[in-house]
Amino acid sequence: MYLGLDDKHALVLGASQGLGLASAQALLNEGARVTLSGRSPERLEAARAALPTEQQARCFLAVADLAHPDAAGLIAAQARASGGAIDILVNNTGGPPPGTPSSITTEAMATHFASMVQPVVALTLDLIVSMRERGWGRILTIASSGVVQPIPHLPMSNALRSTLVGFMKSLAGEVAGDGVTVNMVLPGRIATGRTASIDAGQAQKSGTPVEDIAKASTATIPAGRYGTPEEFAAVVAFLASTQASYVTGSMMRVDGGAIRSI
Ligand SMILES: NC(=O)c1ccc[n+]([C@@H]2O[C@H](COP(=O)([O-])OP(=O)(O)OC[C@H]3O[C@@H](n4cnc5c(N)ncnc54)[C@H](OP(=O)(O)O)[C@@H]3O)[C@@H](O)[C@H]2O)c1
Repeated sequence: MYLGLDDKHALVLGASQGLGLASAQALLNEGARVTLSGRSPERLEAARAALPTEQQARCFLAVADLAHPDAAGLIAAQARASGGAIDILVNNTGGPPPGTPSSITTEAMATHFASMVQPVVALTLDLIVSMRERGWGRILTIASSGVVQPIPHLPMSNALRSTLVGFMKSLAGEVAGDGVTVNMVLPGRIATGRTASIDAGQAQKSGTPVEDIAKASTATIPAGRYGTPEEFAAVVAFLASTQASYVTGSMMRVDGGAIRSI
């Protein structure tokens, strides 16, 4: 299927590794210009250097820490300066630490709100203006299966990402008539560095070998395995495409069937 992305510019947050980088690669494979964003110029540069030479010429970098109060403006300015007007925004952030609901502090909640929610809302509000004026745009937000089926040991993730669900669903209704779609993509268990470190943390805490933690986690997934970043990114590329013009206000699960509800 032709995705119609070859004249589009996508900005992907959290794109130095994992789901963000895989999403950026999928968009590059479809011919888009892509700006990778993250905190470390070295990690972003390494990600770009590993791309095929032809793709490097249409891959740009925007360095900022999402925790910085001006992150949204800094990222948007760098992306526009190098790649032009932004057609597609893939919101993606770091994840908060695991824990129990009763051990959350309001200070920690505020800190993670400031890096996971505020900059995402600010950047979305900034970019949506020009998307509406130009009559075409895609806002995708990578969240978690935890917004549908809360993950017991990730209460802060469940809570903060649900804020974005409410905001993005509200926004989808407002801008649908302007050619701009707004969707969430919900990873279940996709094999990235973060998944490995969460499994390792669980293993250390429970004194169980990490292989047993991964095996128990896999047993809860009907597909019988973790997903690959490429499988996740293929869904992002489709939702970003011209073909997905009538899909908005949706939460697309990429979870191998892990969420039990309809
Ligand atoms: N993988 C899964 O199965 C899964 C499941 C549910 C939810 N999620 C969530 O989906 C998101 C992506 O997952 P992942 O597995 O790809 O995570 P990851 O491997 O940890 O990647 C996170 C990305 O976010 C960037 N980042 C982190 N903190 C940042 C900050 N303060 N400012 C700017 N960039 C920042 C990192 O780049 P730098 O460190 O270079 O800045 C990195 O590129 C995370 O929020 C994760 O919790 C993932």
